[in-house]
Amino acid sequence: MTDAHRMAMHLFILAALLFGSSMSSEDNNSLLAESPLNQVKSVEVLRNMSKKPSLQPHESMPLIETYAVKKDGQVCAMARFGVEFMVKENKEMMYFNMDPKSTRITGYCTDQKAVLSLEFDGGYLEFTFLESGEQSYVSKLRALLETEPYCKQCKGPIYSGILNHEQLFKTTKNKSFKCLSVTSLNIAVNLTIKFISLQIQAFNISMNNFGKETECWADYLKRTLPIAMGAVVAGIILIAVLVCVLKREHSRPGYEQL
Ligand SMILES: *[C@@H]1O[C@H](CO)[C@@H](O)[C@H](O)[C@H]1NC(C)=O
Ligand SMILES: *[C@@H]1O[C@H](CO)[C@@H](O)[C@H](O)[C@H]1NC(C)=O
Ligand SMILES: *[C@@H]1O[C@H](CO)[C@@H](O)[C@H](O)[C@H]1NC(C)=O
Ligand SMILES: *[C@@H]1O[C@H](CO)[C@@H](O)[C@H](O)[C@H]1NC(C)=O
Ligand SMILES: *[C@@H]1O[C@H](CO)[C@@H](O)[C@H](O)[C@H]1NC(C)=O
Repeated sequence: MTDAHRMAMHLFILAALLFGSSMSSEDNNSLLAESPLNQVKSVEVLRNMSKKPSLQPHESMPLIETYAVKKDGQVCAMARFGVEFMVKENKEMMYFNMDPKSTRITGYCTDQKAVLSLEFDGGYLEFTFLESGEQSYVSKLRALLETEPYCKQCKGPIYSGILNHEQLFKTTKNKSFKCLSVTSLNIAVNLTIKFISLQIQAFNISMNNFGKETECWADYLKRTLPIAMGAVVAGIILIAVLVCVLKREHSRPGYEQL
């Protein structure tokens, strides 16, 4: 077999696996959750076909994409963002942008829990949503990045971390959480996850689209601070003008007596 044949066969197997697993999700409640075997296989094929992420010395804008998990044909968890893995290597920061084109989406939803997992060759990013009362949030965020090895046959450095028992991106029922400002989360001493232009929601997603937005604090400040500052400046000017006017009135009582 030539390399081209082998490549074609791998592609065919991969396509078959992906098709097969997406078929099985159609008639099952949790997307891909019941077919871990297929997942492992296709991840392995992917791994062989491309190379591990290489870290970049400079930051660049990551591509923004929408990722969704379905249950009974309905979107039950979705997120839209660009994401950058920031890694500390010998006290220097290095960067890796997740590429939506080579990212696979898996996950599942139950009544109170939803998992959205994004896998790529050399790592993953996984959100676990919880619903509690009127609120929903991301309680767990896991990430792993295995970068290009320094030599052939050796394993690359692995950066991984987890944020657990958190209430990230908290919002109320039917609403999405939105943050246009950059959100940086330190999930290990040597790994920070940076989200660009984030919008995220799980449970009660109607019409397969994001609901009304809950704005993050940073966006709120960005939006209101200039207005507040403007009001303060306007206030100061007004007071200054008043003081001047009053002073002038006081300093010429003589004219008024005439
Ligand atoms: C989901 O798949 C599992 C195993 O394949 C099966 O046992 C279960 O009955 C399925 N559930 C539904 C609702 O089809
Ligand atoms: C992966 O690639 C190596 C060589 O590049 C090859 O020997 C091996 O059989 C491949 N494994 C799979 C699962 O395709
Ligand atoms: C919200 O979703 C939960 C679980 O998916 C469901 O039980 C509940 O009826 C939904 N509520 C509304 C108001 O749509
Ligand atoms: C990242 O930090 C963790 C915890 O200190 C350490 O175990 C791991 O080896 C580090 N990874 C790399 C690639 O340096
Ligand atoms: C959520 O949306 C459903 C219909 O999509 C509606 O019946 C329900 O009242 C909404 N709940 C809240 C808290 O807005």
